[in-house]
Amino acid sequence: MAFATLTVSLLLFASAQVARSGLIKRVACADGVHTVTNAACCALFPILDDIQTNLFDGGECGEEARSGGMPRPRVTNTADTQVHESLRLTFHDAIGFSFTRGGGGADGSIITFDEIETAFHANGGIDDIVDAQKPFVAKHNISAGDFIQFAGAVGVSNCPGAPRLNFFLGRPDAKAASPDLLVPEPFDTVTSILARFADAGITPAEVVALIASHSIAASDHVDETIPGTPFDSTPGIFDTQVFIEVQLRGTLFPGTGGNQGEVQSPLRGEIRLQSDHDLARDSRTACEWQSFANNQAKMQSAFKAAMLKLSLLGQNQANMVDCSDVIPNPPSLKTSAHLPAGENMNSIEQACATAAFPSITAEPGPATAVPPVPPS
Ligand code: HEM
Repeated sequence: MAFATLTVSLLLFASAQVARSGLIKRVACADGVHTVTNAACCALFPILDDIQTNLFDGGECGEEARSGGMPRPRVTNTADTQVHESLRLTFHDAIGFSFTRGGGGADGSIITFDEIETAFHANGGIDDIVDAQKPFVAKHNISAGDFIQFAGAVGVSNCPGAPRLNFFLGRPDAKAASPDLLVPEPFDTVTSILARFADAGITPAEVVALIASHSIAASDHVDETIPGTPFDSTPGIFDTQVFIEVQLRGTLFPGTGGNQGEVQSPLRGEIRLQSDHDLARDSRTACEWQSFANNQAKMQSAFKAAMLKLSLLGQNQANMVDCSDVIPNPPSLKTSAHLPAGENMNSIEQACATAAFPSITAEPGPATAVPPVPPS
């Protein structure tokens, strides 16, 4: 009797230890290298290796820019990898979903029905990444919808400061192209942008969180004369600079000016979307915007949660497998929130009515231009 009690106690103790250490559900993949929580996820490792090598230039995030004297991480590459475009594609595929107008959401329709969807005005320039990703979908046994979200999550994991995004596997093939006019434009009003997102089930706070993506982003087409012009001074780092720099008073156009969807930016070499400018200043979104300015942890967790929701639009999560453990851990951030050199807090356009914009110190030295993100 005592022996039986002891045995049960030991078993309970052992299983509690196993559960605590997270080992209880892990299975070994046939490659002899990886373990995962669900065997179905093992098939993703060869795809992961392929896209890191052949789509993301060996695991890069994108060109790192310099804007003044503060030490920056070493510049490890000279070209824009396709990480930025792959992240943009996750959005343009997924937001093709409407409770009222149809669309299959994150279903890969932007690849499967690319001749229709890449012709939509809001999808300008997206054809390049669609063409780049297509051969990977053809080569691997994965749906276009899964591939787009997987590539986006893997790509973001290459960016210092990024959260480790979730990835769920199991999107069926798209049945139809999404309707036009579901992707927001940079010249849309805040009312129209929030209404569009609400029609996909996404809240104003989640919209602001998703704009963290513009921390690792550049524009090729808003002003065609200056391709690769970034939205913040650190397009190779997933930091909060976009939330700081968009709040600075705009003083110049980095290129020609007068382009639809563009407003003045504070820095030479930096472009500002009208939509980002307005979201930072609208009473419905300004306080949320400001709350990210020097709160990397909040931005990371809010972006991660909103990206999960975005990646599941139109999908039934209950039929999918959680393969989040296949996504690599992103490198940590080595820099801290700062005003670009030459700026001061007087340049911040306070918009939140209930709290002051956090006080942030400027980098030393004179103002410098933000270099463009070169093409890959
Ligand atoms: C109000 C909503 C949004 C608007 C109006 C908007 C608009 C734009 C525009 C106009 C560009 C520049 C395209 C070009 O000229 O090449 C851009 C780039 C980008 N957007 Fe957005 N965007 C929005 C939300 C999002 C979201 C939710 C994501 C992802 C979750 C995202 C990710 C990106 C990325 C990563 C780029 C950079 C692409 C590159 O560097 O090649 N955007 N966005």
